This record gives sequence, structure tokens and C-alpha cells, in this order.
Amino acid sequence: MAKMEVKTSLLDDMIGVGDMVLLEPLNEDSFINNLKKRFDHNEVYTYIGSVVISINPYRSLPIYTPEKVEEYRNRNFYELSPHIFALSDEAYRSLRDQDKDQCILITGESGAGKTEASKLVMSYVAAVCGKGAEVNQVKEQLLQSNPVLEAFGNAKTVRNDNSSRFGKYMDIEFDFKGDPLGGVISNYLLEKSRVVKQPRGERNFHIFYQILSGASEEFLCKLKLERDFSRYNYLGLDSAKVNGVDDASNFRTVRNAMQIVGFMDHETQSVFEVVAAVLKLGNIEFKPESRANGLDESKIKDKNELKEICELTGIDQSVLERAFSFRTVEAKQEKVSTTLNVAQAYYARDALAKNLYSRLFSWLVTRINESIKAQTKVRKKVMGVLDIYGFEIFENADNSFEQFIINYCNEKLQQIFIELTLKEEQEEYIREGIEWTNIEYFNNAIICDLIENNQTGILAMLDEECLRPGTVTDDTFLEKLNQVCATHQHFESRMSKCSRFLNDTSLPHSCFRIQHYAGKVMYQVEGFVDKNNDLLYRDLSQAMWKANHSLIKALFPEGNPAKINLKRPPTAGSQFKASVATLMKNLQTKNPNYIRCIKPNDKKAAHIFNDALVCHQIRYLGLLENVRVRRAGYAFRQAYEPCLERYKMLCKQTWPHWRGPARAGVEVLFDELGIPEEEFSFGRSKIFIRNPRTLFKLEDLRKQRLEDLATLIEKIYRGWKCRTRFLLMKKSQIVIASWVRRHAQQKRYQKIKSSAIVVQSYIRGWKARKLLRELKHLKRCNEAATIIAAYWHGTQVRREYRKYFRANAGRKIYEFTLQRLMQKYFLEMKKKMPSLSPIDKNWPARPYLFLDSTHKELKRIFHLWRCKKYRDQFTDQQKLIYEEKLEASELFKDKKALYPASVGQPFQGAYLEISENPKYKKLKDAVDEKIIIAEVVNKINRANGKATSRIFLLTKNNVLLADQKNGTIKSEVPLGDVTKVSMSSQNDGFFAVHLKEGSEAATKGDFLLSSDHLIEMATKLYRTTLSQTKQKLNIEISDEFLVQFKQDKVCVKFIQGSQKNGNIPTCKRKNNRLLEVAVP
Ligand SMILES: Nc1ncnc2c1ncn2[C@@H]1O[C@H](COP(=O)(O)OP(=O)(O)O)[C@@H](O)[C@H]1O
Ligand SMILES: [Mg+2]
Repeated sequence: MAKMEVKTSLLDDMIGVGDMVLLEPLNEDSFINNLKKRFDHNEVYTYIGSVVISINPYRSLPIYTPEKVEEYRNRNFYELSPHIFALSDEAYRSLRDQDKDQCILITGESGAGKTEASKLVMSYVAAVCGKGAEVNQVKEQLLQSNPVLEAFGNAKTVRNDNSSRFGKYMDIEFDFKGDPLGGVISNYLLEKSRVVKQPRGERNFHIFYQILSGASEEFLCKLKLERDFSRYNYLGLDSAKVNGVDDASNFRTVRNAMQIVGFMDHETQSVFEVVAAVLKLGNIEFKPESRANGLDESKIKDKNELKEICELTGIDQSVLERAFSFRTVEAKQEKVSTTLNVAQAYYARDALAKNLYSRLFSWLVTRINESIKAQTKVRKKVMGVLDIYGFEIFENADNSFEQFIINYCNEKLQQIFIELTLKEEQEEYIREGIEWTNIEYFNNAIICDLIENNQTGILAMLDEECLRPGTVTDDTFLEKLNQVCATHQHFESRMSKCSRFLNDTSLPHSCFRIQHYAGKVMYQVEGFVDKNNDLLYRDLSQAMWKANHSLIKALFPEGNPAKINLKRPPTAGSQFKASVATLMKNLQTKNPNYIRCIKPNDKKAAHIFNDALVCHQIRYLGLLENVRVRRAGYAFRQAYEPCLERYKMLCKQTWPHWRGPARAGVEVLFDELGIPEEEFSFGRSKIFIRNPRTLFKLEDLRKQRLEDLATLIEKIYRGWKCRTRFLLMKKSQIVIASWVRRHAQQKRYQKIKSSAIVVQSYIRGWKARKLLRELKHLKRCNEAATIIAAYWHGTQVRREYRKYFRANAGRKIYEFTLQRLMQKYFLEMKKKMPSLSPIDKNWPARPYLFLDSTHKELKRIFHLWRCKKYRDQFTDQQKLIYEEKLEASELFKDKKALYPASVGQPFQGAYLEISENPKYKKLKDAVDEKIIIAEVVNKINRANGKATSRIFLLTKNNVLLADQKNGTIKSEVPLGDVTKVSMSSQNDGFFAVHLKEGSEAATKGDFLLSSDHLIEMATKLYRTTLSQTKQKLNIEISDEFLVQFKQDKVCVKFIQGSQKNGNIPTCKRKNNRLLEVAVP
């Protein structure tokens, strides 16, 4: 695809016409319109044959990239859109391959883009030529010479912020391979008046501002400068700062460039010292001083600045001071010294400044040349680049000597252009064997002659005037011109003898007008003589030569008194004429390439195309002339091969292939197309077409045919595409069908297969499950059998080995331990046994809690056993006594308070020795039975409660009461008649013996008695009754009981009495019914 985009001819995608030669119709309007149309489409380059017209776009276009360089590299000139690279490439290849020296002539007015164009050419050549460290260094030096020269030679003007104020021609030298070897730079006519004075809105040369903005404080101090622009008279103040220009950074660039180019440090230093000196010169001011002899004299106002300049440059201050005050004229060994008035002093100062600066500039160029010159002596090929100011035409007769010189140079360039173009044209015709027809065009040789003729030329006249003795003024010069040139067709002056201009008010008297090939220019004669003289007083040049500063000394060789030359130095005009002549000679030997720069507007603005301004430039650049010359014979030519290639589709015989020589093909083609014979001519290698019309007709036909062919191609392609598509679809359909069928069959088969598998799997599953069940059952049976056997074996084994089981060990250990403990317990007990006394309450402490009940039981058993032992010692007698005691205990223990006291008393029964005592002989005889109790008791009187002693006797069958004194029986009661014994619960010895009612003894009532041995008596009474009557005697213990007294029942009541009667209870009859016993 990319290949399709590659252009094969300038004619492709053309906006307007890329080559003005093809413009139809050719006139100023169509020319401008074509330029404008292209400019509006960002096509800033247009050809006139091999000439490139360049319109300054005033903005950066993306057409200078390395890719673009590659695009234009090694391509034919007319292949691609017009471009400065195409021209550069053509020139470079022609130089390298055909060994033709080249020159590239760049013209145009200030700000039209000449310098940019020259840089583009150089950068293109640098990009495409050889590579390598050495080559690169050369390239770098060549390219870096630009910033240095621009800093010193360029200035901001109203037209261009970076306007070159000098003409520059640079020869770049190459070896046979096309590698750069070095270069030579020539400079022309630096506009040195700018050093001392600048028009409004313009600046001095860049370097002054750069040095003040960019130099370090230290450096400035060394140069005795101050940073403030306003300190210097030579620096125009109104536009010291330029938008978008960074003077400080440019200063660094310049210093860097100087280093790369090869300036030594001391050289750079010297250069800046000179610059500083120039700047400071402007600050020297003069004041008038009258002398006695009446002569005007000037004096330096403030010598400080002068002193500093002298320090800086190493000039003796007095020498310089004198040079500003005197002028020495030497003629024929005669020296005449005259004083300078103030105006002359200023003139001298400015002249010195201008000369210093312009010589410095020339020195710089020489110095750069020294650095960049080719190091070898081998034959070199040369490419010259000329960047020179174009025509300058100021309004209102502001044109002066400089414009005159510049315009003269342009006339010469036009001359050489015409010459070379025609020459080339002619050569081509001859080469191609085509008949040369004379071409009508304007030849400006006549104008050149007007200016440069050695006798009658304006420059010659000026020189003559300058050298003439006597008073010479600009007016005398004009007069002379008026005389000599009056008849010249291109000279116009009010005062000339030719009356044509007598009434031309547009032409002031002090002016003359020249009809240049590019238009009329009116020159103001004022200053011509002076500028041509370019006078520097000898005293000043000698002062400079005396400077102790090698650079300044070198700049003023004529100041050396040893080489004194009385001849005047050549005038500026003649110098320029000579250098132009050399340049022309130089250019004539080379193959010219033209770049004509046009400025689209005066505002330095992008996108603005000022028709009038462009029209003006087209006129004075003579571009229309250019086209006419170019078209004079044949407008268009092309080699046969590309021509046939381009148009072969227009004829059946040549389409699509021509199998013969290209020329024959083209002949057939043109014949077939019926192009009139006079319209074209066949050269040796090229076809020549006279009118662009014919070419455009061919182009139109080609376009038409291309469309047809495109349609045809499209038709065939579409047919082919459809057919291929159809075939493909058919093939695809079969393939798809077969795939679908296969797929369906596959699916069906898969389904059957999977069904079969399902059925199969069910059956297999069922079988397997059945088998599994059986196997599982079998397994369970086996397992059960195994388990049973295991259990059985287990039981057997356990049975056999139970005794060894650990589980039984616990019990055994327990039992063993228990036994051991018991054993220990009993053995201990044995040792600690208490005494055998039944009343011994001692018993060893229980050692173990678990033996608590055993311990108690043991204690009980032991006690019982001990009691039994104790009992076994008893005799029958004792037994009885204890039985009785026991009985008493059973009856009274815890019932009667008197009981405890009785326990220790032995029951003696017969207290009274009845049988012994003779007193009771009678009584003894009356009682024949065994006496159980014989004791004295108190019988309580029933009436008053008083006690009377009685003997109480108890026998086996009776109770007897007898008188104590004589023993007379008072009452006898069979035991069977005693029903009850009552007593209190207290500590008294009262008791009542109740008798059976109705019995014989009962007639006197119950007995109320008191005894000290109540317990013994009551017990014996109870025992005897029981053994005799087999009945238990009722013993009532109560603190209140009834006693039968005869018929009355008396209540005996025991109360708590006082102790005033001692321990004896007192008995008192209260009333009939109550007998109160007070017990203490
Ligand atoms: N091809 C270009 N592309 C972009 N800008 C350009 C081009 N040529 C010139 N210019 C602009 O125009 C200005 C003036 O160009 P310059 O070459 O210095 O003019 P001349 O040398 O003819 O006086 C440049 O500083 C730049 O800004
Ligand atoms: Mg320039």
C-alpha cells in the first residue's frame, strides 16, 4: 500500500501547477494566483523549471523532518512535490556523480527566507553526504560557522528579526566520494553604518546585546562594560529586546560555536575586547574649544571612557586623544596637521568604530576560513551557497549608496542567471539535437553596463568624483551623472539634459532613478561620496596600529609607518565591483541552482498572503521573465522512458507493454493521439513539448484513461472476486454439507451407542448388585461366625485367665489391705485394752473412720464381756443384793430425786437387832417369820402432821408397825392388803402406804410414814409382794396424792419449802383436806 502512495511525478496531486512553466495562460495574475493557491495549501515551494520559488511560511512546517530527507534522497527532481530538498539533492548528486561544481544562488528581499533556505540546503547536504567521525567534525564546523557569523553580522530590522547585514558566499568542498572536506566563506559589504546608527525600530548587531545580557559579571568587568544597554550611545534603545530571542542563551551558543569552529581562548577574548572597545567608543563625546588663532577645535568631554578604551586595547591614551583632535595630511613628503572641529571629531570617532567593527568581521571570516579550510591538496568538488540580499527598494527616495550597491549585485546575478539559463537551454538543445530558435527576452546587460562601465558607468563616475581635487560634494557627483548618463535608457534624473523628466515631480532634484530589470529605484545622492570614500583618518589607523593588542594591530596594517602608502585606498564602490566580478567569475564556472525567496507579507505573520507585496517581488525578481526564458523554446521536456511509462495507456500499441525502444513508442503514441507536429520535437533522449496546453491535454487524457482503466480493473476485479467467492462458497457448501451429514450420523451413532451402553449398564448393574448382595450376605455370615468364635474364644480365654485380670487385682488388693488394716487394728487394740473394771470408761480412739461401727460394737461387746466377768465373781448373797439394787434402780432411777443417794448405801434391812435387844423380846416372840426389814420410821399424825417414831417391820407376809419404846405391835397389815405406795418425786423420805378398802387394817386409814431408807424399804416391799402374791405393787411417784384418813381423803401436797428448819422436811395440816409437806 505504501508503495501506491509514492509519487512518481510532480504532476500527481498537484495544487495549482507545481511548475510555473506549465502555467496557462501565463500572466502576472495567474502567476500570483497560482502561488497563492499553493501557499494556502501549505505548498510554499513552486518550480520554474529547475528554479525553486520559496515563499516564507513564517511558521515551522513539518516538511524538514529526517523522514522527508529520506523521501527526497536519490529521487528525480520532478518526481516529488517541489521542495528545497529536491534542488539540494539534484545539486549534490550532480556534484558527486557528474563531477559538476554547483552553486546555489539564493536571492530575495530581506526577510524572505534566504538565510533559512541556505541553512536548509546545508543541513540536507550534511544529512545525505558521507558519515564518520572526521566527516562529522567537518560538517559540525561548517554548520557552527553560521551562529558565529549571524551573531556578528545579523541584526533585527523592521523586516526581519534576524536579518543578515552582509552578503555571504560559502564554498563547501567535497572529495570524489562526496564527503565534505571543508569550506571557504566570502563576505560582502557588511552594513557597517549600523554600528553607529540604527533606523527606528531596529537594533545594532546581535553581538552587542548578547554580550551585555549573557556575559558573566566577571567577564563584563574584565571588558569594562556594564550590563545596562542604556549606558551605550551606540545601542538604539527603542527595541533593545526582541520577542522570542534570548540574547543571553544565544551568547552561550555563540561562544560554544566559536569553540567548535576552533577559536582559541585568547582569540575569543580579543574579539570581545574589540567589541567592547567599539561599544565604548560611542560614549566618547566632544565639546568645542576655540583657539586663539580662530580655528575651531574639539576636546574630549570626559576622558574616563577614553582611558578605559586605551586600557582595554593597549593604546597609548595620548596618541588616541591626539588622533581625535588632529588630522595629518601627507603629500609629497609634506606633512600638514590640521585640527578637527567637533563635527569632524564625531565623524572620526564613528569612522573608527565602523572600521574597527567591519574589519573585525572580515577578520572573523578569515579566521573561520582558516579553521574550516580543506586539509588536503587533492582536487575538490565545490558547492557554493550564495545568501545575498535581494533587491532593496525603500519608499520615498530613502535608497542610498548601500541599496545602489546591493541592487547592482542583483543586476549582476540576474545577468548571470539569464546567461546561464540560456546557456543551459542552448546546450540542452544542442545535446538533444534540436534546432535552436531565437528567444525573445529582456537582457539586463545594458543596466549592468550603466553601473559598471569603466568609463561611463556610475561607479566609475563616483570614483572619479571622489578622487578629484577641489571641493567634492554629492551634488557635483549628480551633476556629472546628469551629463554623462542623460541619454541612457534606464537612467532618469530631473536635471539631466534629457527633457523627459523635467516635469516629473515624483523625482526630487537631489535624486536619480534607475530602471532596474526588476523595477524603478530612486536613489538619494546624499552620502554617496562619503560612503564610497569610506574615509578613516590616517592618524587613527596609525594609532590603532600602535595598539599593544595583536588583533587590533592586525586589523590596521596600513597604520604601519614603514609601509606608508600615499595612494588612496580603493573606494568602497570599486572594492565591491571587484569582489562582485570575482564572484561572477566564480559562479560562471559552476552549475547554477536558484532559490528565489518571496515574502508573503510585511508583518512576519503566517497565513497572510499580500498580493500586492508578492506582485512587487515577482516583478523585481523577474520571475515572469524567468518563465518566459524557460518557455522560450519548449515549455516541457521529459526523457522518453518516463514519458512512455506515464502515457502508454493512451494508445493500444503501447498498452500495456511496448516492446521496442522508448523513443519509437513515444512516436507511435503521439502519432496515434494526433498531436500537431509543431507542438513537439524529438530530442536524442527527451521529448520536447512546446506548449503546456499539450502537456495538460495529455494529462487530461491520461486521467480519463486512468479512470477507465480503474473501472476496467474494478470490473474485472469484481467479476473475479464474485466468481472466486461463488466457487469458494460452492466448495464450502459441499464441505459444509458433508460435515453436517457426518455430524448427524455421528450424533445418531453416538445416541445408539450410548443407549446400548445404558441398557447394558442397567443389566450389568442389576447383576452386579445381586452378586453384591449375595457376597455381602456371605460376608456377613462369615463375619458373624468369626465374631461368635471370637467371643467364644474370648470368653474361654477370659474365663481361664480371669484370675490374672487386672480388674480383679483391685478387689484383692482392697481385701488384702482391709485385712492388713484389720489385723493391725486388732493388734493395736490388743495392746491398748482398757482395764476390766466395768466402770472404766476408757476406750482407745478409733483409728479408721470405716471402723466406726465395728469400734463401737467392739466397745459394747467388750463392756458386756467385762460386766459378765465381773458378775461371774459374785456369790449368791451378793447376787441378791445386786438384784435388789437393780430392782430399786428400775423403780426409781430418774423418778425419785432421793434415789441417787441410795445407790451407794448397802441395803441392810435389819437395822434394829430385834432378836438381840431384850427390849423387843415380846415383839420378837410375836413375829415368828423372818424379818426382812426392821427399822425406825416416823408416823405422821393425821390430825396435826406431827411425827411419832414407830418400828417398821416387814416379814414374808406382813407389814408391821410397833411402838419403838416397848415394841408393842400397833398395826399388822397382810401384804395382800397393801394396794399402793405413794411418794413424792423429791428428795424427801415421806411415803404413803395405801390399804385395800374394806380390809381389817384399813379402818384407821392409810399410813403416812417418813424414813431415811425409803428407797430400800419401798424396793423390799415391792419384791416381797411380788414373790408372795405374784402381783406387782403399785408405786405412785407424784407430788400430790390422796391419802385415806378414816372416812376422809386428805391430799398430801409437796411444796418447795424454806431452809430455816435445816434439811428436815416439815409437815403441816392446812385444812381437812390438805396436808402440806415443805421440802427444802
Ligand atoms: N522555510 C521556512 N520555514 C519557516 N520559517 C521560515 C522559513 N524561512 C524563513 N522563515 C522565517 O522567516 C525569518 C526570516 O528568514 P531569513 O532567512 O532570515 O530571511 P533573509 O535571510 O531572507 O533576510 C526567519 O527568521 C524565520 O522565522
Ligand atoms: Mg538573511
